[in-house]
Amino acid sequence: MMDDPTIGVIGSGTMGTGIAQVFATSGRRVVLQDVDAAQLERAEAAIGRSLGKLVEKGRLEKGVADAARANLTTTTDFEALAPADFVVEAIFENLEAKRKIFTRLDELCRPQAILGSNTSSISITALAAATGRPEQVIGMHFMNPVPLMKLVEVIRGLATSDETTQATLKLCSDLGKTPVEVNDYPGFVANRILMPMINEAIFALMEGVGTKEAIDTIMKLGMNHPMGPLTLADFIGLDICLNIMEVLHRELGDPRYRPSPLLRKMVAAGRLGRKSGRGFYDYARS
Ligand code: CAA
Repeated sequence: MMDDPTIGVIGSGTMGTGIAQVFATSGRRVVLQDVDAAQLERAEAAIGRSLGKLVEKGRLEKGVADAARANLTTTTDFEALAPADFVVEAIFENLEAKRKIFTRLDELCRPQAILGSNTSSISITALAAATGRPEQVIGMHFMNPVPLMKLVEVIRGLATSDETTQATLKLCSDLGKTPVEVNDYPGFVANRILMPMINEAIFALMEGVGTKEAIDTIMKLGMNHPMGPLTLADFIGLDICLNIMEVLHRELGDPRYRPSPLLRKMVAAGRLGRKSGRGFYDYARS
């Protein structure tokens, strides 16, 4: 069954689009589903641009890129996910919306199908509990930009079986990614460590310890990070950063995870980073 599964991807935002692209590039049939037809069109265009860029840079053969386009189907029809043996949910971060999707998937998909979530901070155990197959529910947390980043954080919920975990790790390796297995606690490992660093950088900016350029340059050149923390926060989206800090704060119950008031203020102002044209930096002309 898992030798050549059809992959379902739900949600065609940045992450779902990237996930659909890498599966299609690895030769899998992919059904990308979203309720918004216009968003699906944008996703297809983004995949076309990304594949084009990878070919242009010599990182992908043209034949493989063409095959990837042919492997991809987009649809607004949820039922079209029925043949998938592996589904990755990548909708916006909302527990109730995700739980509804997992319940529907459980009813729709074959008994052997594995149900994954790309959530960055919602409990895999809670999503699994919305299904009758919690042992076949797992976290599959890709990093942005998905086609370039090697890591997939694979998160075991309380009931996730060894078999499901092994199948998921293999699927990630088949994608050319490096999967790393972790357990289900708030923020898992990636965001448990990344977000407090970003939040601390925002506190340092708020307190006037350094300018945004100083903070970013110190972390870039001093720690060899590809982007400084404030640039990275703009790249991820400040609303997403705030949401993850709120999850860590609420669920771990420790004041050290309190979101910086400056982060709250930026989000309240609608300065969400690259996607809104302005965050800590101005992207209006880029
Ligand atoms: N597909 C194809 N090409 C892409 C692309 C995509 N999706 N995204 C970017 N590229 C291209 C860029 O357009 C650029 O092309 P040009 O050179 O033609 O402009 C090229 O890839 C690479 O860009 P750079 O030369 O600027 O290369 P870089 O060395 O700066 O790498 C980067 C870019 C990989 C994004 C790097 O800056 C980086 O690693 N940044 C940190 C990313 C990171 O931390 N991601 C994790 C975020 S957290 C997360 O995702 C999880 C969460 O839950 C919040």
